[in-house]
This record gives sequence, structure tokens and C-alpha cells, in this order.
Amino acid sequence: MNIVRVSLEHHRSYPIYIGSDVLSRTGEFFRKHSLPAQTVVITDRNVAERYLPVVKKSLEEKGFSVYSIILPSGEKQKSLSVCNTIYTRLLQQRITRTSVVVALGGGVIGDLAGFIAATYQRGIDFVQIPTSLLSQVDSSVGGKVGVNHPLAKNMIGAFYQPKFVIADSSALRTLPQREIICGLGEVVKYGIIMNKDFFNFVEENLSQAVNGNTDIFSSFVEESCTMKAFIVSKDEKENGLRAILNFGHTIGHALEQAGKYRVLKHGEAVLLGMAAEAFISRQLGLLNDNSFNQIFNVIKSIPLPSLKKLPLHSTTLLDTMRKDKKSTAVSIRMVLAKKIGKTTLPFPVQEDVIRESIKFLQKNF
Ligand SMILES: NC(=O)c1ccc[n+]([C@@H]2O[C@H](COP(=O)([O-])OP(=O)(O)OC[C@H]3O[C@@H](n4cnc5c(N)ncnc54)[C@H](O)[C@@H]3O)[C@@H](O)[C@H]2O)c1
Repeated sequence: MNIVRVSLEHHRSYPIYIGSDVLSRTGEFFRKHSLPAQTVVITDRNVAERYLPVVKKSLEEKGFSVYSIILPSGEKQKSLSVCNTIYTRLLQQRITRTSVVVALGGGVIGDLAGFIAATYQRGIDFVQIPTSLLSQVDSSVGGKVGVNHPLAKNMIGAFYQPKFVIADSSALRTLPQREIICGLGEVVKYGIIMNKDFFNFVEENLSQAVNGNTDIFSSFVEESCTMKAFIVSKDEKENGLRAILNFGHTIGHALEQAGKYRVLKHGEAVLLGMAAEAFISRQLGLLNDNSFNQIFNVIKSIPLPSLKKLPLHSTTLLDTMRKDKKSTAVSIRMVLAKKIGKTTLPFPVQEDVIRESIKFLQKNF
């Protein structure tokens, strides 16, 4: 097992325990961190049938009691109405402030359970046990928790850090290929924004990973968490550096929304967004041809849904980008690549270049 530390002020630093079969050590970690005896495990059906028994057994063996809440899977669960149902169950069950919420699942469960932990009785302890690649490399680290509003995604939320994270790479064996690809999108992103050697390593091992060879995932998760932990430690609340994690996301979000969140999954949209934003970086003279081609070839080698399934109207896509959190009243801003391993902070981009990048995507994907 390896441990990555997220260093934060005011005693809020925490470890990420990464390794194979670490789920069976859950109770041991709870003891080590002196967590309350009552746990509430929030999970979804897919994950519960595979991993709830091992987590429950491990907790109970170490003297913790487990109350589990099993939800259907899917983004729809990230809503205030589902939160309300959960609050009711917690109150009926007389769950007190000296309890701990455990998120066992992908990013949907992590965001939702984290929001419950942040708000129930003004905040109770929280532990993340991410089981999808995306949640292990991204959403479980950094403390962003929240739910969707009918008008926009992730609009209601908080920064709320867990006590620790357990990322078990052997749990990724049961992940469907499309979900692996979504996680790989974020893994590729870390290489582009921060670390050329890691990008090369991912490039070399990509086809194995896409085909579900999970041996490589421990190192993908460890390296990705190390980079995200570094960024979050420097800028917990996204006032500066943390924005670089948004590379690929400005155009990615617009594509995701164009398909009404049904055609493209988040990680797929980010991969396409990174191809378009790398194209823009090259057009603006920030990124050289070689680096652009390397990024493009990596993304092109990953199976992705065809963009022909999507209504790609530049005007609508630009409208969405204008509402992006990085944009200002006068310009659409996005993070661009200067080379593999280095990006700009959010940078104003002319609309004609963005239109060109959308044509580039249409031609190639
Ligand atoms: N908080 C953050 O910083 C942050 C960052 C990125 C994304 N997110 C959020 O994360 C969510 C997406 O997360 P996700 O991609 O993990 O989606 P998800 O939670 O919906 O999980 C994807 C699917 O995989 C299943 N699954 C999970 N683990 C499994 C396993 N080990 N074996 C088999 N099936 C498994 C789930 O049941 C689900 O059907 C979005 O809501 C997004 O907004 C949050």
C-alpha cells in the first residue's frame, strides 16, 4: 500500500491510502483515525452488491456499527430531493453528530455523500472510498462536494474535506470499459497539465488500460493523486492554480451539455475538450506541432462516441462557454497548454478560434 498526503491548513490534512485489496482494511483505518463508532455507508446498487459486504465486515470486525443507504446508480441521484430523503432516514435512525458518513462508490456517490456529511447537523465526519477510476484519480480528492440544480450541474455544494480516502485498485476490475475511459481522460489530463514523464508513461500503457488490464491502475491512481494533492494543497478553494485542473473542461462541458448529458459522459467530453483546447493552444502559437500531435494521437487512440450523435451548433456551444465559471463578461477564458507538462492559467480566447476548434473536432471524431 502507498500513502499520498493532501496537506492543508488547520489540521485538515489527510492521507489517501492506495493499493490492491485495501478495502478489507477499512476498519483498521477507522480505528487508526479514531473515528466515531456509528458509520453511515452511502453507496449505489452496482457497488453495494460487489463491495459493501467487505467494507461492512471489516468495519464490524473492528467494532463499528454500519447503517447502509443503497441508492440507484446515476447522476440523477445528485439532487436536493435525494438529499432530503437521506436526511429523513438519518433523523429517523437517530444518527447523531458523532457519526461518520462513508461514500462508497463513484463520483456521484462521493459528491452526494460528501454534501450530506457537510450539511447534516452542520457537518459530521466524512470518509471517501472511491470505486471508479474517475473518482479515485479526481473527485474523491480535494473536497469539492455537492449536488446538481435543475438549471445547472454541481451548482449547490461546499468545500468539505474527508478524514481520509481509501482507493482500492482491485475494485476497478469490475468497472465497465466506458467508465475506465472516463477515468483515463482525467489521467491523461494530469500528464498534459503537470508532468511530461507521466504523460509518456500513460501513453505507453494506454492500450492495456483501455482494455481493462488493471495492473497499471495503482500507479495511475498514485501519480494522479500526488498531482491533485499538490494543486489542492497550494490552492484549496480554486482562487488560482487549481484552475489548471480545468484543462479540456470549458469545451468539454459545452459538449456534455449539447448532448444533454446523455450522449457523452463527463470523462469522454473532457477528452474531446482537451483535443479542442490543445488545437486552440497550437493555433495561438503556445503549443508546438509535435506536442499537439502527441496529445491528439493519444486522445484519438481512445474509443469515444462519435460526435455525429451530437447537435454541434457553435452558437449554442459558445453560449454555454460564456457561462463557464472561468469566463468573464467580456471573454471566454480557458486553460491552454504551453507544452506537455505546462499550461497557462485561464486565458481569453477569441470566438473565431473556438469555432475553428469545433470544426476540427467534427472532422476528426
Ligand atoms: N468533486 C469533484 O471534484 C469532482 C470531479 C470530477 C467529477 N465529479 C463528479 O463525479 C461524477 C462522475 O463520477 P463517476 O464517473 O465515478 O460516475 P458514477 O459515480 O456514476 O460511477 C459510474 C458508474 O460506475 C459504477 N461503478 C462505480 N464503481 C464501480 C466498480 N468498482 N465496479 C463496477 N461498477 C462501478 C457506478 O455504479 C456507476 O454506474 C459526476 O457527478 C461529476 O460531476 C466530481
